[in-house]
Amino acid sequence: MNLFDVYPLYNVTPVSAKGIVVIDDKGQKYLDFYGGHAVISIGHSHPHYVRRIKEQLDQIGFYSNAIQNPLQSELAEKLGKLSNCEDYNLFLCNSGAEANENALKLASFQTGKSRVLAFHNSFHGRTSAAVAATDDLKINAPINQQQKVTFLPFDDIKAFTKEIEKGDVCAVILEAIQGVGGLDEPSTEFYQEIAKLCKEHHALLIADEVQSGYGRSGKFFAFQHHDIYPDIITIAKGMGNGFPIGGVLIHDSIKASYGLLGTTFGGNHLACAAALAVLEVIEQEFLIENTNKLYEYFISKAAKIPEVKRVKGRGLMIGLEFGFDVSELRKKLIYNQHLFTGGAKDKHVLRILPALNITKKHIDLFFEALQTELKE
Ligand SMILES: Cc1ncc(COP(=O)(O)O)c(C=O)c1O
Repeated sequence: MNLFDVYPLYNVTPVSAKGIVVIDDKGQKYLDFYGGHAVISIGHSHPHYVRRIKEQLDQIGFYSNAIQNPLQSELAEKLGKLSNCEDYNLFLCNSGAEANENALKLASFQTGKSRVLAFHNSFHGRTSAAVAATDDLKINAPINQQQKVTFLPFDDIKAFTKEIEKGDVCAVILEAIQGVGGLDEPSTEFYQEIAKLCKEHHALLIADEVQSGYGRSGKFFAFQHHDIYPDIITIAKGMGNGFPIGGVLIHDSIKASYGLLGTTFGGNHLACAAALAVLEVIEQEFLIENTNKLYEYFISKAAKIPEVKRVKGRGLMIGLEFGFDVSELRKKLIYNQHLFTGGAKDKHVLRILPALNITKKHIDLFFEALQTELKE
């Protein structure tokens, strides 16, 4: 059997990894400034993470959501404390798309309505409602296009008001900092105004923190830069540092009932152990503080490169905007400099999403490599 060929692949075969370094089958080392789409939050094969997962596997790896699993409550408690979201409840699932799918479904259950407002250039995943709320027709099949979603520009409060006033909106879904789209974010005033309008018109505000959450933006959640309080928050990527896990944080005002949501694999023992290990490392190694410190350092170095037109994003969720398509530059960085970076829907943006425990020395190496390739 062949693989269903949907991914254009770089010619690199990683076989091991440690911290920010990925090693391929020929022994070549690469510096990972992308973390496999923002997934690696505490570094590859962090010793605490590896130990916690191994120990858990020796005990019990999986049982379904029909039994008591105290690891889930432990995870919910720790997550609530570290994120300062103790008035939310946690539903565990397996990916970012699944988290958003459940969030949108819950908003529709809760309000009895079905239209969604999303934003230009959004990306929320590839399942039914999540992909319909993703601003990319190419990945929406006819079956997805039956959903009722309206896409709006950032910072246009008139357009937003006109739509939400129609009264049929169940949810407004936003990425506080857009990931795949290219690191755009609107003003704090816009976020605060839409949060207010959601309350007035009984629509739920969903913050998709799948990419920007878990400290990546310099706060636990990126929406916390704007002093807003979403009804639902979705998480995935950095949560498991590579172990597939996602979650939905649901405000206390939304009541649960048996059978409302569900999944076979979500919240299994092994996934919880991985997610707990990540939170323990974030806390013990002060990774959010490190992220803020390194952001300052990163932008001071980027300011010295004339080809960089603009630095977008926050924390270690950074976009470098150039005056040209960066696809070739990314290839050169991989093959000549042995350094992984990411692209975006906006072809001028190079996405930088390293683990949150990198150091200034790694950033120096990144800029040396970048400057070498820009001079070529
Ligand atoms: C903001 C955001 N939401 C949702 C998703 C979908 O996550 P997953 O690929 O785990 O389904 C992504 C993936 O890139 C994302 O960046």
